[in-house]
Amino acid sequence: MDYEEPKFFQVMQYAAEADGDVIDMVSGNPDWGPPAALREALSAYADLESDAFQYPPSDGLRELRETIARRRGVDANQVVITVGTGEANYLAMARAFERDAGDEAILLDPVYPYYPGKVELLGGTPRIVPTERDGGIDLDAIRSAMSDETALVVLNTPNNPTGAVYDPAAVEAVIEAAERHDALVVADEVYREFDYAGEFESALAVDSPNRIVTDGFSKSLAITGFRVGYGVFPAEHADAARTRHMLVNVASPRPSQYAVLHALEGMDPAYQEAARERMQKRIAAFTDALEAAGAEYTTPEGGFYVLARFEGYPGTTANVERLIDEIGVAGMPGDTFGTTRTDWIRFALVTPRVEEAAERLAERFV
Ligand SMILES: Cc1ncc(COP(=O)(O)O)c(C=O)c1O
Repeated sequence: MDYEEPKFFQVMQYAAEADGDVIDMVSGNPDWGPPAALREALSAYADLESDAFQYPPSDGLRELRETIARRRGVDANQVVITVGTGEANYLAMARAFERDAGDEAILLDPVYPYYPGKVELLGGTPRIVPTERDGGIDLDAIRSAMSDETALVVLNTPNNPTGAVYDPAAVEAVIEAAERHDALVVADEVYREFDYAGEFESALAVDSPNRIVTDGFSKSLAITGFRVGYGVFPAEHADAARTRHMLVNVASPRPSQYAVLHALEGMDPAYQEAARERMQKRIAAFTDALEAAGAEYTTPEGGFYVLARFEGYPGTTANVERLIDEIGVAGMPGDTFGTTRTDWIRFALVTPRVEEAAERLAERFV
């Protein structure tokens, strides 16, 4: 089978190789750097005894699992440390398909492209269901797409790419529907620290054996390169996830886990608030400039991304590459995220130059 590689790397590479000054707003790589406590832990690591350079426990450093469990109000046995949220999503999806409970996965459109890729890799069939116009959950659409073939429903809140933060009551209703169809719900909460209205509620609030929550530190600690994530699995699925993680990875890297643990314990509590405020300012600056340019755009309730639409300029890869060449602004084609935002281009606000980017866009399109 040929697996389709998500287009992120293709567009990132195009932007990196382009001539001239390119404002890179392609992927969600935070530009603000990790907390000081994480850097200090990493420096200290080099001087640790030789056992710090050996295999960690397969499911993660015990202290890290316990810290996460305490913060998230779950039992440490439910927590499996993974190679990023990406691996936690993979483990959760694999669990859904190995239960002989159907082979369809309900994914919401617009969709983070790694979800359909992983579903297909695991032999499942993606069933794409549109969201509301504002990116919110369309409960009727999900309920009517569900059947006994449904093995999995994947939710992502705050959402990439729409910026929607899902209504907690709708998330609960999806989990209840999944229970009726013997399906698992995976709630990917990797952007949960970037909730601007304070309305995000974790799916952990819904007590259900059918609900798996995935999360990680790539965004909240600005360390996408460290690859530390985790899944919170209901008791009956945790051992299967642990075993698959062990067979695929042996374990997640020890220095990254150590650094995250020390960051969680020792960082300035103002770090995350500052990151949220920085992002809110960027959203305001970028969307104000788009407004002045007469473009259509989204105002995210959470996460890092703004979708923008320019009249007569659909969000294809060719058009995105043209923008890189003509004005030095790099986004992601909307057609990467399913079928409902093909007219749009997604911009990741991970550069201090968002206003300049919007001005370049305004000049190009007005
Ligand atoms: C919705 C979503 N889930 C998961 C990930 C991957 O997270 P991690 O770096 O923790 O694997 C991303 C990264 O952009 C994302 O947008």
